[in-house]
Amino acid sequence: MKVIVCKDYDAMSKKAYEYMKECITSKKNAVLGLATGSTPVGLYKEMVADYKAGNTDYKDIVSYNLDEYVGIDRNHPESYYSFMHKNLFDLVDIKDENTHLPCGTTQADADAYEAQLQNANIDLQILGIGRNGHIGFNEPGTSFDMGTHVVDLTESTIEANCRFFDNDPNLVPKQALSMGIADIMKSKEVLVLASGVEKADAVKGMIEGSVTEECPASALQNHPNVIVIVDEAAASKLSK
Ligand code: PGA
Repeated sequence: MKVIVCKDYDAMSKKAYEYMKECITSKKNAVLGLATGSTPVGLYKEMVADYKAGNTDYKDIVSYNLDEYVGIDRNHPESYYSFMHKNLFDLVDIKDENTHLPCGTTQADADAYEAQLQNANIDLQILGIGRNGHIGFNEPGTSFDMGTHVVDLTESTIEANCRFFDNDPNLVPKQALSMGIADIMKSKEVLVLASGVEKADAVKGMIEGSVTEECPASALQNHPNVIVIVDEAAASKLSK
């Protein structure tokens, strides 16, 4: 793992965009694995700004998202479908038919997404990390061998995400469809972003902890091409 510590969230986002720009300019039809949540918003802003400045285009770029809630309509403002359209897809020239998100409620729906991923060959996978070390919605205890699957969200994840649902945990969906760790591990390059002291334990576990299903992100220690970009607060518990 290559670890880059940046001063703050903005510097982290700008550094992440350097890797993204290299990917999308060196390969016009690059396949991106995309993430939702607060962490990648700054990266998406950098992508949109550089696109608007005329320096990049997305007309042949393909994307696959990590996850989606079960049980809310895709047009719900907090669905990941809505998030991606609001923060990126509607602001650049990516073709709608080139964007993919998991969708549905059952393992058969997860299997349908998994079938699409089999031919995807993701060039650059963007990841945030949960306070509990999850990547995508692969919660602690998830087998590293799993593909796309239906997930029961943990209390800690529901708690973390209730800020998007009027701070009411009862409004947060209880399940999601998520790419599995096995899918993430197939990406050619993985970019993990983390900001804030509440991510410091998860970042330490991912980088310096033992490789264990109790910390899903620790699986990335076995991936040959991972870049971790964190701010100083998220790096604050690293020993080196
Ligand atoms: P966040 O979520 O970017 O909103 O902190 C990250 C995650 O839970 O994977």
